[in-house]
Amino acid sequence: MKISPKVREFLCLTAHPEGCQKNVENQITYVKKHSEVKNGPKKVLIIGASTGYGLASRINAAFGCGAATIGVMFERQAAGKRTATAGWYNTAAFEHAAANEDLYAKTVNGDAFSKEVKDQVIDLIKKDLGKVDAVIYSLAAPRRTAEDGTVYQSVLKTTGEDFTNKNLNLKDNTIGEKTIEAATEEEVEATVKVMGGEDWKAWIRALTDADAIEEDAVTFAYSYIGPELTYPIYFEGTIGAAKKHLHKTAGEISEEFKENGISAYISVNKGLVTQASSAIPIVPLYMAVLYSVMKEKGLHEGCIEQITRLFGEKAVFGQAETDGQGLIRLDDWELKPEVQAEVERRWEKINTENVREYADIEGYWEDFYQMFGFHMDGVDYEKDLDPSVNIPSIP
Ligand code: NAI
Repeated sequence: MKISPKVREFLCLTAHPEGCQKNVENQITYVKKHSEVKNGPKKVLIIGASTGYGLASRINAAFGCGAATIGVMFERQAAGKRTATAGWYNTAAFEHAAANEDLYAKTVNGDAFSKEVKDQVIDLIKKDLGKVDAVIYSLAAPRRTAEDGTVYQSVLKTTGEDFTNKNLNLKDNTIGEKTIEAATEEEVEATVKVMGGEDWKAWIRALTDADAIEEDAVTFAYSYIGPELTYPIYFEGTIGAAKKHLHKTAGEISEEFKENGISAYISVNKGLVTQASSAIPIVPLYMAVLYSVMKEKGLHEGCIEQITRLFGEKAVFGQAETDGQGLIRLDDWELKPEVQAEVERRWEKINTENVREYADIEGYWEDFYQMFGFHMDGVDYEKDLDPSVNIPSIP
């Protein structure tokens, strides 16, 4: 069948297998050309490995460091006429590319929060790799079922008082206003349960208890802070509360697992269009303005450029370069004063009439479609395809 995009606001319900493959291949080519890692890891577990920052991390580990990788993801295989998710196709393409270069790559598809998946991953590590020397935590999940069966739902709300600001209407690219409600105490707590650091620490504890992690291993998780403009919806919102908990957890992991020599870091990354971030209100307009400013200044990066810089320049596996609070700042270019001054100037003026002058709407949508394997150069979208694609390591 022919596969075309079916977009519903911030979601695309279809994905294109050959487009996703091309996307993965382009990222591999980038890493091979630009990776400069000293003392890279050799056996890496990536939790949330199939899209966005986690996929870029897996590609850097494998093709930049020659590492064996185990990826954990929550994706869906095709069924009848329904395509698989982009992360499924990305992972199939990744495993094929890894096999072509004799790189070990296996994937576990299931709920990373569950004990079953943790046990399954640990069994796989013990059987095939012995131990891992790096654990990258890149989950972006809407909900979590805890061990006792309680389901926590993360929400994207502000805290304190309701917050109103400009917003890009994704249906027709007009600029309107959006009011974001203040969360209740329970909603903040639930978001912290899902996106905070508890599960990250649970993974490290499970790996340590099972003797499946090397001494001196490195672990890191991804965070976002952003500019003051987005504080009410991001850093001072529910998700920000979760990120602050994640930051605190890095210190706790380094302290609690000191005897095992494990170092835990937070890498604060740049705001980018991914499946997780396009669901946050107000943020897509900020990103479209940011993209246009950073592209004009020659500073724009995507996930693969960011993570290549994390592994190389920021030396996350060596003497990691951190700020005064122990955070690795990959958002250094986004937060340059000259970038943010220009974003603010445009933000004041932007409206439906001038949106294309002040924001990179095309760039926003290009990234969005490409996440699902559409709008990729060199892919024949008229071709009939079987949407069902196997991932070699998943039976
Ligand atoms: P994404 O939506 O592209 O990737 C999420 C990954 O998590 C996918 O591999 C998905 O399969 C996996 N996943 C989701 N629920 C799961 C579950 N229950 N069990 C197993 N796997 C599951 O998201 P993105 O944007 O790459 O986010 C990754 C991390 O980076 C998040 O912590 C996010 O907050 C952070 N980050 C994102 C930024 C952005 O602008 N996109 C900026 C800075 C940090």
